[in-house]
Amino acid sequence: MTNGNGGTLTKSYGHFSTCGTEYIVTDPYTPRPWANIISNPRTGLAVSHTGSGFSWIDNSQLGTITRWQQDLVEDSSGKFIYAKDLETGTLWSLSPAPVFAALDKYACRHGLGYTVFETALCGIEAEWTLFCHVSETVEMWLVTLKNASDRPRRLELCGFLEWCCGVSPAPRREFGKLFIETGFDAKQAMILARNHMWEVSSERFGHWNTSFPYVSAFSVSEPVTRAQGDKALFLGRRGTLRSPLALREKTAGAAFGRHEDPMAALHVTVELQPGETKSLGFTLATSESDEKAAQLAIQFRAPQQMVTSLGDVKSFWKSTLSAHRMDMPGGALNTVVNNWIRYQAISARLFGRCGYYQQSGAFGFRDQLQDSQVWLTIDPGRCRAQIRLHAGHQFADGSVYHWWHPLSEQGHITKMTDDLLWLGFVTANYIKETGDFSVLHDEEPFLDEEKPAPIREHVMRAFQRVFFRTSPRGIPFIGAGDWNDGLSAMGLLEKGESIWLGHFLAGLLADWAEIFHRTHENALANDLVNRREALVHALNEHGWDGNWYTRGTLDDGSVLGSAANRNGRIFLNSQTWAVLNEVAPAERATLCLEAVKKHLVTEAGALLLAPAFDTPVSEIGYITRYAPGLRENGGVYTHAATWAIAAAAKARDAELVERLLCAINPANKDPERYWAEPYVLPGNVDGPGSPHHGRAGWTWYTGSAAWLHRVVAEWVFGVRPTWEGLMIDPCLPPSWPRARMVRPWRNAEYTITIERGASFSLTVDGVRQEARVLPAPEPGTAHQVGVVIP
Ligand code: GLC
Repeated sequence: MTNGNGGTLTKSYGHFSTCGTEYIVTDPYTPRPWANIISNPRTGLAVSHTGSGFSWIDNSQLGTITRWQQDLVEDSSGKFIYAKDLETGTLWSLSPAPVFAALDKYACRHGLGYTVFETALCGIEAEWTLFCHVSETVEMWLVTLKNASDRPRRLELCGFLEWCCGVSPAPRREFGKLFIETGFDAKQAMILARNHMWEVSSERFGHWNTSFPYVSAFSVSEPVTRAQGDKALFLGRRGTLRSPLALREKTAGAAFGRHEDPMAALHVTVELQPGETKSLGFTLATSESDEKAAQLAIQFRAPQQMVTSLGDVKSFWKSTLSAHRMDMPGGALNTVVNNWIRYQAISARLFGRCGYYQQSGAFGFRDQLQDSQVWLTIDPGRCRAQIRLHAGHQFADGSVYHWWHPLSEQGHITKMTDDLLWLGFVTANYIKETGDFSVLHDEEPFLDEEKPAPIREHVMRAFQRVFFRTSPRGIPFIGAGDWNDGLSAMGLLEKGESIWLGHFLAGLLADWAEIFHRTHENALANDLVNRREALVHALNEHGWDGNWYTRGTLDDGSVLGSAANRNGRIFLNSQTWAVLNEVAPAERATLCLEAVKKHLVTEAGALLLAPAFDTPVSEIGYITRYAPGLRENGGVYTHAATWAIAAAAKARDAELVERLLCAINPANKDPERYWAEPYVLPGNVDGPGSPHHGRAGWTWYTGSAAWLHRVVAEWVFGVRPTWEGLMIDPCLPPSWPRARMVRPWRNAEYTITIERGASFSLTVDGVRQEARVLPAPEPGTAHQVGVVIP
C-alpha cells in the first residue's frame, strides 16, 4: 500500500477522497481519536471518528454547550444518535460510539466543514452528517436512512446529548447541575436548556454571579414520540451509554426542570418500506434569547434546508481556499497543504480556537496573530481585523495579555517577553503583502487608556518596552519565557537573556526601519537601523557558542543551549532565526545549520532542542518537567519545525528542505508509529528521549498549520512578498521536477510555473526578466510567470 508520496504504509485506517477534500476513515480502531473541528466564526463542534465530541458557542471553553469527557482511549463521550429496530430490539448507534455494535459497514468522512458517518446494520443503511451553518449559530445533523432489506422496518431513532451550558471541563457535576434548567416544548418538538450560573467573574455582578448568556434548543424535524431530560432516568440505575434503559424500555421517565441531571433525548419513529429512503434533521441552536434559539432550531431542521446549508458550507471552504493553490508532486502533500492545514488554521485555530486535545476558547496574543497570516493571500482584511483585535488587548505601557478570553475578557498578565512584538511582525507582513500602509492609522484603544491610538503607536510602545527590557550586554531579557512558554523561569529576576528573542527582534527592526523610511520618518528609521546593528553585534558577541547560537542565559548568568550543558545543549529556534533574519554572518549560518543537521534533525523532524531535560530544573522552567522527548522538551515541536524548513531554503539547502518537508507531512506516516490524524498537523511528535519516538499528539491546535502553508509558499516555492515586490526564489526539493502556484498579488493573479533546466531564468508573460522581484501589477490583470531552476 502506498501513501501517495512514494512511501509504503504497513497499515492504513483510511484514505483521502479523490479530490482530497475528505479524509475517509474506514476502520474505527485508529490508534487515537481522529477528529474534525468544524466551526463558523461563532459556533462549532469537535467530532472524532467514533462520533464522540462536543459543541460550543463563541468560546470553546467558557461557552461549551454540550458535555464531554476528554478520554482519548475510550473516546466514547458526547452527542449521539441511537437506532433501534422496533421488531427485533437490536440497538446500535449511527456512529461507532456509544454502542460500538458490530457494524456491517463503517466509514467516517471528515470533510472541510462537515463530517459524515456511513454505517449499515441489519439491512438499514444510515448516513449521519454533522456540520454547522456557515454563519448562524446552529449545528445541524442530517440523517438519511435506507431500508436495504426486503421487509418493511420500524425504527426508533433517539438524538442524545448532555448539557454543559457554560464552562468546561465541568468535573463537579453535582455542583454544575444545580443551576441548569431544561424544558420540553412538545408542540415545537424541542428541548430548551439554560444555565443560571456561569463560572466566570463579571465586573458588575462579581464572582460567578451571572447567568450563562445563551439558551440552547435541541429539536427534530419529525413528531417526537418521547423526550427525556434526566440522565439517571435515561440510562437507568448503573446504566451505561452503551445500553440505556430508555432504549430498552418504553417506561423510562422524562423529567425536565431544575432538579435533574440535565440531558436531552428526542425519540422519533421511522417507518421504511423495502428500498425506501427517508431523511430527517436534528438541530442544536444557541442564541441570546429563547425566541431566537427556537427560531433557528425550527428554521434549519427540515432535511431539504440542511442540504442547502451544507452546500453553502462546502462553497465557503472551496472559495476560501481556491484563490491560492500550489501544485506539487506527491498527491498527499498537495491535499494537506492546500486544503487541510489552511482549514485547520481557520476552523480550529481562528474560528473555533479549539482542538480535540485543547479546548481553549482564548486568543493567545502571539498565537492567533501568527495564525491570521493564513488570510494574507486570500482575504487580507481578516488579518487586519486580527491585528486590530490584538492591539485592543495591549496596555498603554506596551505590554499585552499573554492570552485573553472573549466573552469574559479575562486576560493573563505574564512576564513573557515576545508576545507584544508579534503585533509588529504581523503588521509588517500585512503591509508587505498588500502594500497598504493605511493599517498603520487604524485606531484601537489600549486596555487601560480609552483614547484610541493608531496601530503605529501600538507597535512603537511594544518596541519601547522591549528596548527598555534589555540587558547591559544589549540582549533582550527572557522574563517568564519568550516564544517558548516552557522556559518559564529563566529570567524572572529580569537578568536572564534570550538570544532567540534577539534574533526575532533584529528582523523586526529591519522591517520597521523600512516602513519608516517609506513613511518618511527618517530619524526613526535610522534609529531602528542603528539599534539593529548594535543588537546583531551583541548577539554575535555574546550568543555564539563556537558552533551554534546559545538559547540565552539564566538569571544567575549561566548559559543555556551551549555545548557545555548536559541537557538543552542546542536549541533549534536560535539557529533558524539567526539565519532567517540575517543575524548570522555567512560562515556562522553554515555552521549553525550543520549543527542543526547533526544534533536536531531526525527522521521524525527537527527537534526543538537536544538532549531533552531528564530532571526538573526550577531555574529554567516547566519545560524541564515534561517527560524527556515530549512537546517542547526535545520533541519535534512542529510550529518551530516549519521555521527550520524556511531556514534550510534560505540557506539553499534543498536536500534539507526535502528531508524536513517529508518528515512533517502527516500523510506520509506509518499510523502504527505516528498514531495521529494523517490529514492535519500535530503540535508535537515525540523525540528520541521518548520510548515512542515518532508518535504524534496534540493535533489540530497548533500554530504549525498556518506556518507550514506559508513556509511552503514563501520558501519552498520561494514566492514571497518583500519591500521591493514579489520575490521569486524557489528552493524545491531535489526530487521535484516541477511545481506550480496560482496566487493573487495586489489585486492581480499570477500563475507561476517552476521547471528544471540548465540555469536560473525568469519570464513574465513570455518576457525575460533579470530581477527576481516582480513589481506591483496593474490591478485586475493576470500574469504567467515561468521560472527555470537548475
Ligand atoms: C504553545 C503556545 C504558544 C507557544 C508554544 C511554544 O503552542 O500556545 O504560544 O509559542 O507553545 O511554547
